Amino acid sequence: MSASSLLGDIADVGRDRSRGGYSRHGFDSAELSLREWFVAEAADRGLDVTCDRNGNLWAWWGPPGPDAIITGSHLDSVPGGGAFDGPLGVVSALAAVDAMRAKGIKPSKPFAIVVFAEEEGGRFGVACLGSRLMSGAIDPATALNLRDPDGISFAEAVSAAGLDPARMGRDDEALANIGCFIELHVEQGRGLIDLDAPVGVASSILAHGRWRFSFTGEGNHAGATPIGDRRDPMLPASQLVLAARAAASSVDGARATIGRIQPIPGGTNVIASTVDVWLDARAATDEVTRNVVAEIKAAGLSAAEAEGCELTVTEESYGDTVIFDPVLRDRLAAQLGGVPALPTGAGHDAGILAAHVPTAMLFVRNPTGISHAPAEHAEPDDCEAGVAALATVLEHHLST
Ligand code: GLV
Ligand code: MN
Ligand code: MN
Ligand code: MN
Repeated sequence: MSASSLLGDIADVGRDRSRGGYSRHGFDSAELSLREWFVAEAADRGLDVTCDRNGNLWAWWGPPGPDAIITGSHLDSVPGGGAFDGPLGVVSALAAVDAMRAKGIKPSKPFAIVVFAEEEGGRFGVACLGSRLMSGAIDPATALNLRDPDGISFAEAVSAAGLDPARMGRDDEALANIGCFIELHVEQGRGLIDLDAPVGVASSILAHGRWRFSFTGEGNHAGATPIGDRRDPMLPASQLVLAARAAASSVDGARATIGRIQPIPGGTNVIASTVDVWLDARAATDEVTRNVVAEIKAAGLSAAEAEGCELTVTEESYGDTVIFDPVLRDRLAAQLGGVPALPTGAGHDAGILAAHVPTAMLFVRNPTGISHAPAEHAEPDDCEAGVAALATVLEHHLST
């Protein structure tokens, strides 16, 4: 079956009528129905599906075992995200199995399609939660205490989905079985458009992290409180937005984004008592990223002080620069007739796994260059080129 028709099958799941695009978050009803859909698709292909201790799904073609070749991605999205970020890697893996079967290929090594849980952190705030838990990159107690915007903890959400929170955490057995992980993903920038290529391989991922800035002032009445009597945390919060742009603009290639602000209590006629501001900052190296964040933090502290507010800053997640295994990257590029290698600013489960196992990524051209938004796209022909590329590299790995 083609990747586009598989995407068509799930096109109605998790549509976000108010934001546009899709909102499919870890263990919410939309993501749970996508997981069910995946289990059924895998079963139709005779694959054996297991769910690991951390909520990641594995569909095995043949028996599980060591030195396994793993491909896959995630099914969750950012709030109001596109149709391709995540699902394209999953449907392409299913379509690659179909293509290999049609050619009479049988895996000579263990092979599985993986669906990682809560990759975007759109519900619990920390990206790549399933792969971080599996690889020990996050302490299970920290993960289980994360809360979604409705106050539901990750522990409660996974229990409701039938998982045992007490068993979550580093899974050495699962990690030890992975001989190599290859994640196919829609490109999230304009690299392949500019190179005029439908498919490429990833070279690196920017260092990146998320920080919560909590400004606390004094909640009060919007009409009855003279301007001079206010300690309004919205003031330093607003200045933080400008400081983030200024700090990132002064460093080549750095990015700083504030895409989420939450005033508490959040009333039009209420001076907020607290404003939480989430910063996403990225740059080529750990040092540069940390310097950019330090500059933004300094600006936040002085803006808070000027308004008589307090500021606390919490690092919610962080990942250093990822350089993908150059041998594997070059081997894949050569197997695909010399496709280009390109860096990305987006985070992926592949970036988490790269610290543990040989890992590579294939990118499929995105003609809009837009991602994490409804305009994200991949043409059906390019999706098929992606499936063919994935099947080609899997065939090489499964037959050697
Ligand atoms: C996830 O896709 C990220 O890069 O934030
Ligand atoms: Mn994403
Ligand atoms: Mn993704
Ligand atoms: Mn991602």
